[in-house]
Amino acid sequence: MQTTLSQDGAVLTLSNNDQSTRFHAIWLRDNAQDPETRAQANGQRLIALRDIPQGTYMSTARLDGGQVSITFEPEQKTVEYDLDWLLAHAYDRPPSTTRGWISKDIATWDATLQSNVPTAAFPELERRGAAFADWIDQVTRFGFGKIEAGPIAEGALYQVVDLFGFVRETNYGRLFEVRTEVNPTNLAFTGLGLQAHTDNPYRDPVPSIQVLYCLESSAAGGENMVVDGFACAQRLQQENPAYFDVLASYCARFEYAGEDGVCLTSRRPLIELSPDGELIGVRFNNRSLAAITDVPFDQMDLWYAAYRRLGEIIDDPAMEVVFRLDPGEAFVVDNTRVLHARKAYSGTGKRWLQGCYADKDGLRSTRDALLRQTQEAAE
Ligand code: FE2
Repeated sequence: MQTTLSQDGAVLTLSNNDQSTRFHAIWLRDNAQDPETRAQANGQRLIALRDIPQGTYMSTARLDGGQVSITFEPEQKTVEYDLDWLLAHAYDRPPSTTRGWISKDIATWDATLQSNVPTAAFPELERRGAAFADWIDQVTRFGFGKIEAGPIAEGALYQVVDLFGFVRETNYGRLFEVRTEVNPTNLAFTGLGLQAHTDNPYRDPVPSIQVLYCLESSAAGGENMVVDGFACAQRLQQENPAYFDVLASYCARFEYAGEDGVCLTSRRPLIELSPDGELIGVRFNNRSLAAITDVPFDQMDLWYAAYRRLGEIIDDPAMEVVFRLDPGEAFVVDNTRVLHARKAYSGTGKRWLQGCYADKDGLRSTRDALLRQTQEAAE
């Protein structure tokens, strides 16, 4: 069935069978792809909205093959659009009323992922071929990935970050050492097990990627464990929607002031939703949760019950994936979504990891650029 077109000046309607999708004149004009509106080299918009007259309308619109030609008034400007581009960017659909939906780019998981941990060999990743594309796609989808067969050298974790982005330096340094210390200033430096958590929720914005790289591991135990915070939040919502709602509706507070000259604070919910209900972040860290002062008095009992239940779900072995890091092995984790933990270890022998932060935009950019490259090659 052929696509047909109609317009009434303010709205363009594209119809195909009984499906139709509408576009506003102002949206179409703003999204013109002609050389006066968009730089052809980098695709950046050359005009501001103030350059488009208020009350812009269409005087004519024609469909010819795969091209839509529209003349805008009062500019008397004619612009060509690819029909496929318009259909790919259609927005005429009912608004989402679901709270807690997730992007189609990601997949939630539980302990059943254990036999399928996204893993790749470092030399293979460095070649940046198909194995790299596949690994980076899986890290985006599942929120974590393991790397094997990397160099056993201090600072090797920077080579992991080089695969997709840039180190985010913090007050802990460009990298931080994770090993036993006699006088620990932070619980991460002892042999105790740690509850699964996201790192540094007291930063604003939080570092969205963490890399942990193993250089020495002769102590028994100390396995790494990851939990999908989105899967936990969704399970909480299924069990008790009121629990999910209270954690998503009010801000928690986080704080770290454990060293001189540092006082990091943030005010964000444990479960973060976009304004249209997409689940976009989980923050969970018992060590740095500060006094909660933004939950109304009559909701505080509910908030604590929900927080307790979320913690129980996070601690449930049915949600966790466990793996050991040996020297030259590392993992990359999406710190806005996937919680990580360390099992207790014996304290005899040594365990030495180096960690650093980076950001997720680099990871996604690398993945999406690879994806476009593959699509263009296929065209
Ligand atoms: Fe951590």
